[in-house]
Amino acid sequence: MDISVSSRLQKADANVILVAEEDSLEKGLKAVFAPEFGKTFVRPSGNDFKMDIFVGLGKAKEISKEKLRRAAALAVAEAKKTKADSCSLPVRKCGKLSEEEFAVAATEGFILGDYAFDKYKTDEKIHVKKLALVCSPKSEKRIRNLTQKTKTICDNVVFARDTINDNADSMNPEAIAGLAGKIAKEAGLKIRVIGKREMEKLGMNLILAVGKGSQYEPKLVILEYRGNPRIKERTAIVGKGITFDSGGINLKPTGFIETMRDDKSGAIAVLAAIKTLAELKAKSNVLAVMPLAENIVGSRAYKPGDVFKAYNGKTVEINTTDAEGRLVLADAISFVEKEYKPKIIIDLATLTGACLVCFGEYVAALLSNDEKLARRIFEAGQKTFERVWQLPLYEEYKEEIKGETSDLKNLAYNNGRYAGVITGAAFIGSFVEQAAWAHLDIAGVSWYEKERFYIKKGATGWGVRMLVEMMESF
Ligand code: BES
Ligand code: ZN
Ligand code: ZN
Repeated sequence: MDISVSSRLQKADANVILVAEEDSLEKGLKAVFAPEFGKTFVRPSGNDFKMDIFVGLGKAKEISKEKLRRAAALAVAEAKKTKADSCSLPVRKCGKLSEEEFAVAATEGFILGDYAFDKYKTDEKIHVKKLALVCSPKSEKRIRNLTQKTKTICDNVVFARDTINDNADSMNPEAIAGLAGKIAKEAGLKIRVIGKREMEKLGMNLILAVGKGSQYEPKLVILEYRGNPRIKERTAIVGKGITFDSGGINLKPTGFIETMRDDKSGAIAVLAAIKTLAELKAKSNVLAVMPLAENIVGSRAYKPGDVFKAYNGKTVEINTTDAEGRLVLADAISFVEKEYKPKIIIDLATLTGACLVCFGEYVAALLSNDEKLARRIFEAGQKTFERVWQLPLYEEYKEEIKGETSDLKNLAYNNGRYAGVITGAAFIGSFVEQAAWAHLDIAGVSWYEKERFYIKKGATGWGVRMLVEMMESF
């Protein structure tokens, strides 16, 4: 979607008017439209527009950035219903929101709300192609800069959604490594791709084990962005990249397997985030790490009961081939910490069904060995409305992942039934040596069973905006 900013009226198919309850309305309109939050009203318009789209914002003092994103998503849905190609949207100071905040939030809601995964639809694809923001002359330049940045970020959320929604066989580990290579070239990132042979030499037997049943080679992709050459410190963002999680020999049943191409949501989030940071020329040093494998059944697949030696030398018993995320993350994290020595490691993973049981689709679980880092993540998430909530990592949980015939096991505590989110995190955390580390279990938030305003059914692109928010200047 093209975003333009002007202080003068801009002609468009539809004019979008976001109305607070305190705003004065002409009489005729008042009779048919009450600007409660989420109410919409569409009517034919005069010379400059074909139609007016009114969306209620509710009480001015209760307006938030999130309400504005949602209202904008409702507006774009109305525009699409009438096949409007272009929309004009006047922005202004409203309640607690500045004119700039209003413009940015509305742009987010507009671009993300326009999203549809329609690659495989053969009928007409309807999208709004142009959003023209109208603002005061004094804010014009600033709003232009801010909304161009917002567009870069949101386009990358769209990229993440598209990549996750696509067929698991097109987005297999080799294909995603190739895609990362293309992105690295375009965005000027350093890239290292470790394939099967090198993994064997390095002893990354956990990633190898998970990928054994697949016709595709597992890959470990490491992208580097150096936006602040004056400091050495960098942050590693590591994303679980299971391109399809069948459960392996412990096959998932019908009802649980259908959406498992979303098990690469963490990897794609870190890929989209580093791509965004490079495009924005952010002043931060970031490593994006993607352990990629397909967890599939087959005569070569790894088996329950077997023990493997991890990259760091610890042995792990496989109690279930379906707890594969922690395995690939363990090797990826210990390798990256040893070779690149990042000060901070943040991993994002669709790790457990238990996370859905606990938080539903609304909140990601956060677990960390560093309170300052946890706070930073929490605050970034509040800003972008990608909300996280912290769970404890007490010593007792770390006892539960100790193995009987091996150092560790991949199924803890009452056969995995108790404290699933926490024991999953504890397993991953036991592979961290020095770094401040945080784990985000995004199993619930990465995929929506139904549409909610600017987040559509299917892949949500969760984490991209939050990671960019927290790392833009770090
Ligand atoms: N990818 C799944 C977790 C998942 C479930 C993600 C639902 C998104 C939606 C993960 O690999 C898995 O299967 N975890 C097991 C772990 C258990 C065996 C300890 C689970 O949650 O059942
Ligand atoms: Zn699994
Ligand atoms: Zn999985």
